[in-house]
Parts: sequence; structure tokens; C-alpha cells
Amino acid sequence: MAKWQRNPTGRIAYVNGRYLPHAEAGVHIEDRALQLGDGIYEVTNVIGGKPIDEEPHLDRMERSLRELGIAMPMGRAALKLVMREMIARNRIANGLLYLQVTRGAARRDHVPPKNPPRPTLIITMRAQDMAALAQRMEKGIAVSTQPDIRWGRCDIKTVQLLPNLLAKQAAKQASAFEAWLVDDDGYVTEGGSTNAWIVDAKGTVITRDLSNAILPGVTRKIMLEAMKEAQISVVERKFTVAEALAAKEAFITSATGAALPVVVIDGQTIGDGVPGALSRRIRDLYAEKAGIN
Ligand code: PDD
Repeated sequence: MAKWQRNPTGRIAYVNGRYLPHAEAGVHIEDRALQLGDGIYEVTNVIGGKPIDEEPHLDRMERSLRELGIAMPMGRAALKLVMREMIARNRIANGLLYLQVTRGAARRDHVPPKNPPRPTLIITMRAQDMAALAQRMEKGIAVSTQPDIRWGRCDIKTVQLLPNLLAKQAAKQASAFEAWLVDDDGYVTEGGSTNAWIVDAKGTVITRDLSNAILPGVTRKIMLEAMKEAQISVVERKFTVAEALAAKEAFITSATGAALPVVVIDGQTIGDGVPGALSRRIRDLYAEKAGIN
């Protein structure tokens, strides 16, 4: 099977009220996301035909929009129906659902128009490459540290992803699956598209505390709840690259991969060089809580 066929893009896209063949779907050339990066997005995992952690993803979507003063393109109940319709029309049981909301199309001006245009809503899907994901879980992944050159509102899930993509491109060139972004003081903020975690010698799980410096990951939130319920020792604080290199275990979390063990950082082996027991346990606890079997 050709590589692209293992995670094909869904055939149907949703744009502003219409379900269209993916290749024919498009937005206005004056859309503010295209012209100015003026938009936000969400990604939810879909398993067994159901969106995972749907409410917290929609909560965060509403928050991102509120922070930018963009209206919700439709009510939450209607949006949930459209998401289900997309899953059904694309016949994708296990995949990823992407929601993008932009401020809409208007004559180009940095300042948002006084009379707001109708926000653009784009929904697309793609199948998940389950074999590749299983392999990453089994073997663990490598990360490469890269300078965090992003802006001061990384808590908003904006479509302005240039710093993330440059970091991830550099990581790929270094044969790593993910970039770990490092702030000016030498602390890890998060991954290019994931949250970053380590486990110290005493078995305490550490992840950066929430602030404008990181995205409040939905998977991070549910993982933390699961760990607290299981009485796993966990601290939300920033950690340095040196601490990460000395960690017993490390992992990344996101809607796209739940928890993936990190076994190499900048070419250096972490712990035993194989996925750690605690990372695996946390992953199982999360799966149970999120309703993933
Ligand atoms: N990324 N940090 C960043 C910068 C992210 O882009 C993401 C998600 C996360 C994890 O958040 P969550 O657990 O809610 O997925 C953290 C998505 C998956 C993406 O850009 O494709």
C-alpha cells in the first residue's frame, strides 16, 4: 500500500454550511486567515466513529475565538452535529477531525473590520495511520530541541504556525519525530505540536505549568486528572533541557497521538532507551478516562 493511502484525506470537506468534495472545497482569496493568519483551529481524535474529548476541545475553541474577538460560527450543538455528519460522510472510524475558524473574508486591512464578516468554518478529516502510531508507541520517538521563537500568546490555538513548522522541519532534519521548544532561559516550553513531559529519578511526573507560553493541551488536562485520580505524583512546573536529559522517562501528549514515549533527546538516550513503564501506565489511564479501548 502506498504511504499516503494509509492515512488518506477524507473525501468530503465542510466549508461554511456546505459539504463538498475535498478537491473542490475552498475559501475566498480575501479570507483573513490566508491574508493575515487571522484564525484558530482545533484537532480532535476520532475513534470508533466518535470524537474524543469533544467538550474540552470545543471549550478551548470557544476560548481561542473569545480571545481574538471572533464569533462562534455556529452554536455548539449544531457544530457537534456537523462533526458527526463529517465522520459519517467520510466513513472514517479512526482518524483526525480538523476544525478551522477564521475571522472571515474582508478587504485586506490589519485592523479587523468594524462590522465583522461571517466567520469562515472549515472542517476536514483524515484517517489515522494506526500502524505507524502503534510503532511509535511501541518503540518510542526521538525529539530534537529547538529555540522557541513564537509569540507571547501561545495559549491561543492560532493557525499562525510558522515557528512551529520551522522547528518541526529542523527536528525532522535531525531525524527526530518532534521538536521540543526551548525558551531563552533554557526551559522546555512544549513540543511543536504536543505538550512535553518528563519523569524524574523519584518517579515524579513533571510538565510545564499553564501560562501564555504554552497551549493548554486537552490531552494534558485529561492526563493530569487521570494521574491525580491514580495518585501518581505530578508537578506542574518548568524543566530544563538538562533535567530532561537526566530524566528516567519522557513523553509527549496530543490529540493526534495520546501519549507517545520519548526515548531520545538530541541524540542522547533517555532512561533505558525504551518506553518507560510509567508513560505506558499513564497512557492506559488516559485511554480509560477518554473512553478509548
Ligand atoms: N496540536 N502544544 C501545541 C503547540 C499543539 O499544537 C498541540 C496540539 C498540543 C497538544 O494539545 P492537545 O492535547 O489538545 O492536542 C500542545 C495539534 C494536534 C496539531 O497542531 O495538529
